[in-house]
Amino acid sequence: MEEWTYGVNFLTRTGQLSTDWRQEFILLSDTLGISMLVETLNNHKSHGETESTVLGPFHIANVPHFDNGANICLDGKGEPLWVHGTVRNAKGKAIAGAKLDVWQANEDGFYDVQQKGVQPENNLRGIFTSDKMGRYFFRSAYPRFYPIPYDGTVGDMLKALDRNPNRPAHLHFIVSAPGYETVITHIFTPDCPWLKEDAVFGVKQSLIADFKHVNNPKQAAERSLPNPFRSVEWNFILSKEK
Ligand SMILES: [Fe+2]
Repeated sequence: MEEWTYGVNFLTRTGQLSTDWRQEFILLSDTLGISMLVETLNNHKSHGETESTVLGPFHIANVPHFDNGANICLDGKGEPLWVHGTVRNAKGKAIAGAKLDVWQANEDGFYDVQQKGVQPENNLRGIFTSDKMGRYFFRSAYPRFYPIPYDGTVGDMLKALDRNPNRPAHLHFIVSAPGYETVITHIFTPDCPWLKEDAVFGVKQSLIADFKHVNNPKQAAERSLPNPFRSVEWNFILSKEK
C-alpha cells in the first residue's frame, strides 16, 4: 500500500510540475529509456538514411525563419560555429525546399527557455530552408553538455538510482520535406565527456559529428565569423514517405 501511494504521488507530482515551459512527463519517459525504445521501434533506417533520436522537452513551435547564412546566436556568446551540409534522398538526389528546424543549448548548457531574461528570446533556434542544390548553412555557437532539470520527480528518480543527469552536447534538428518522412534527430559533438553516459540514452554512433577547429582568417571573413571558429558539415538523408 505504501509503495502504491508513493507511485501515485510521484506521478501526480510529475503532472503538477508540467507547464507550457516544462514537460516533466517527457523527461520521465526520456530518462527511463521509454522515448528511445518507442523511437527505435518506429524508425528503422536501412539505406543509410539519417537516424532519429529523442525530441526532448525544449523544442518550441513558431520560431523565426531565417535565410541561409544567418546567425542564430543572438547574444554573440560562445565559440563561433559554422554549420553546413545538404539534404538528400537515399539515392543522393538533392532535396530543395526542405525545412530544417534547429535548436540548441548555449556555451553554458542552457536553452533560451530556461534563461528567460538572460538569453534573448529565440536564442539559438530557428528554421532554415535548403536551396536548389539541397544545401543549408548557418552560424551559431558551440554547445555545451547540460543536466536535464533535476529539481523535480525525475531528479528524485535519478538520485535514487545514483545516475547522472547530463546530456552530451548536441544540436537538435527536425528535417522535413514534402514526400519524405520527417526526421527528428541530433548531431553530437565528439569530445563531450558525457557522450557514453547520456541521461536519456539518445546517442547513436551515426549521429556523432566531426566539429573541426578552423583557424583561417579568409574563411572566417567569408562566413562573417570571428577567427578562429568551429565548423561542422552534416548531410541529412531522408526516407521516402511510405
Ligand atoms: Fe537538447
